[in-house]
Amino acid sequence: MKRIAIPFRRLLPLLLALAIVTFVIVGLLYTNLIDEYSEYIPFGRSVQASSSTSSETALTDEQIRLSVIQQYEFNKKIVASGSPLNAFATCDNPLHTNESAVVLVSQNGPEGTLARIEFTWFGFNTPARYNPNVLPYPPGGVAPYFGLARQTVELGEKKHHELVYCDMEWGLSKGIGRRILTCKGGLRTLEVPEWRSPRGTCVWLPYLEDTNGPSDPRVFFSPKGEPLMIVGTNGITNCLSQYIIDLRMMIPDLGKKMKVEHVPVRFKQLTELPRDHYGEVEKNWFLLYDEKDIDYVQHDIENRSISAVPTVDTITSAHAVNFVQGETVPPCISSLKKEYKEKDDQIRNDIHQGTNTLRVTLCEFPCIPTIHNTVLIEMFHIKYHSYLEVFYRRYVMLMNVTAPFEVIGRTNNLIYAGSDEKMMIYTVSMAWDHTNFRRHEPWSEGKYGGRAIWNAIEDQEAEEYENSINDFNGDAVASRRRDEPDKSDSSTSALVDKAEQDSSAPVSTEEEAAARYPFLENVALRQNSTYTNPLVNEYYHGWIDDTIILNIGINDLESGIVHVKASDLLECVTVCK
Ligand SMILES: *[C@@H]1O[C@H](CO)[C@@H](O)[C@H](O)[C@H]1NC(C)=O
Ligand SMILES: *[C@@H]1O[C@H](CO)[C@@H](O)[C@H](O)[C@H]1NC(C)=O
Ligand SMILES: *[C@@H]1O[C@H](CO)[C@@H](O)[C@H](O)[C@H]1NC(C)=O
Ligand SMILES: *[C@@H]1O[C@H](CO)[C@@H](O)[C@H](O)[C@H]1NC(C)=O
Repeated sequence: MKRIAIPFRRLLPLLLALAIVTFVIVGLLYTNLIDEYSEYIPFGRSVQASSSTSSETALTDEQIRLSVIQQYEFNKKIVASGSPLNAFATCDNPLHTNESAVVLVSQNGPEGTLARIEFTWFGFNTPARYNPNVLPYPPGGVAPYFGLARQTVELGEKKHHELVYCDMEWGLSKGIGRRILTCKGGLRTLEVPEWRSPRGTCVWLPYLEDTNGPSDPRVFFSPKGEPLMIVGTNGITNCLSQYIIDLRMMIPDLGKKMKVEHVPVRFKQLTELPRDHYGEVEKNWFLLYDEKDIDYVQHDIENRSISAVPTVDTITSAHAVNFVQGETVPPCISSLKKEYKEKDDQIRNDIHQGTNTLRVTLCEFPCIPTIHNTVLIEMFHIKYHSYLEVFYRRYVMLMNVTAPFEVIGRTNNLIYAGSDEKMMIYTVSMAWDHTNFRRHEPWSEGKYGGRAIWNAIEDQEAEEYENSINDFNGDAVASRRRDEPDKSDSSTSALVDKAEQDSSAPVSTEEEAAARYPFLENVALRQNSTYTNPLVNEYYHGWIDDTIILNIGINDLESGIVHVKASDLLECVTVCK
């Protein structure tokens, strides 16, 4: 023993030195590759476009005026039609049928195919890392992206789940040279508290009672910019449950890197999300934000179940009100399920929740977001089980942007270019990539109208409605917004009265336009507006011409990422009646 040990000990410094030299050389080569590649930026935002006021894209006052008039007229039409989504559902593909798949071509690489994510850093024999969550850092950040994934470690018979994260940048795959997203710097493990489920709660799979570790993370921004994570782990009163935490509590420099240090932290610890009754195993819940940015959690799609989320991290389990109790998902979605003749329990299909939600305005910037042209989207899956084979088809569900988030549409089956039907593809989360892909300047209330004009539109609608009732009743009730004792009320009403006399004729003079569209002239209100359009923010909201990141788990082993325009994702939508 000793004879072997002594020479080895002498060799050790030499081996170490050799290892360090190799490491440095490989590192340099690798860095060179990435540096070379990062000069190639046909994808994502070009450098100068990131400045907030580019004169080329800025509209003139006259163009904005015209656009606001058009939007106002269009808005009136879609409200009157009762089914606003009909007005926005577009399908440019002449070959589209109710059964065709929509192939999504990614914007993030020259080939348009699904890009792999490599959650390693000079790693060999690393465990499987999948179900990724990639969020953009803000412009001028340390890296383009923050990435977090699940890894599963086999401990004998048992599996233990962990979460790993790193800063990410574009690189090249070895040999083939395809664009991939890779860890920049070290990969770290997230320290997540663990415990056992109460004895006897895991009837279906008793081994789940033991500490499983965190699984299926969904990392997303709230409208305020909180980087939140929903994650599953052992239950407090059931077998497996769903929890929420602000990731800034677990990654100390994340707030600074995301430039959201000023945003108060609400979920300071792993906090169980509320439900009226907990099932044995709860999975895949997602949050929805209404037009006032209030948080709700959806537990189930098929037998729709949604509860409001208390705003503090002292959520005590159970007995949360379920406010869509007993509502089943409309046939446009339930009909996607197949009836199987086989009585075999192993052959079946289910509707599974997938990603978090995003808020999308269904027209191009700078169209003014309203509750009639803006929706919430979420990607769900039909999961097919056939003996040991699992397969998913994926669809986007469109919901009304106000509670109770009525289901109003869905896409057809979505397929990522570069994937094939033998891959088990699970889309775990999505995020807006305004940092790297947005082609327009940020929203400006004063410039584009925003809340001030939205209010004016609503005022006018309310007034017209009230007038129609008054005409009917012969009554004369003054109309006024309840929340706003307005200064310019009398003059506005006079103008509206005048406008109504000839509301069908096209406007030909400045005066006529001013009379029919009084909000246009309300310059003081526009330019000195302290209003903000409640639907607009940099984190949860985007327009149809903005780009969405889709984060993809592959075969429960690997990770992938696709970037698509919201308009590509939402093409050929089926409107749910
Ligand atoms: C598609 O439309 C055809 C004809 O209307 C109908 O027979 C078929 O069931 C529809 N398929 C689906 C998946 O809705
Ligand atoms: C739907 O959920 C309710 C409880 O929230 C339950 O009573 C009912 O049986 C469920 N229906 C189906 C079809 O699962
Ligand atoms: C959402 O619901 C509100 C309230 O019912 C309605 O006014 C609005 O038009 C709906 N929006 C869409 C896009 O359907
Ligand atoms: C808007 O605010 C600016 C700066 O506070 C002020 O100079 C200007 O007079 C205001 N305009 C109106 C129309 O009130």
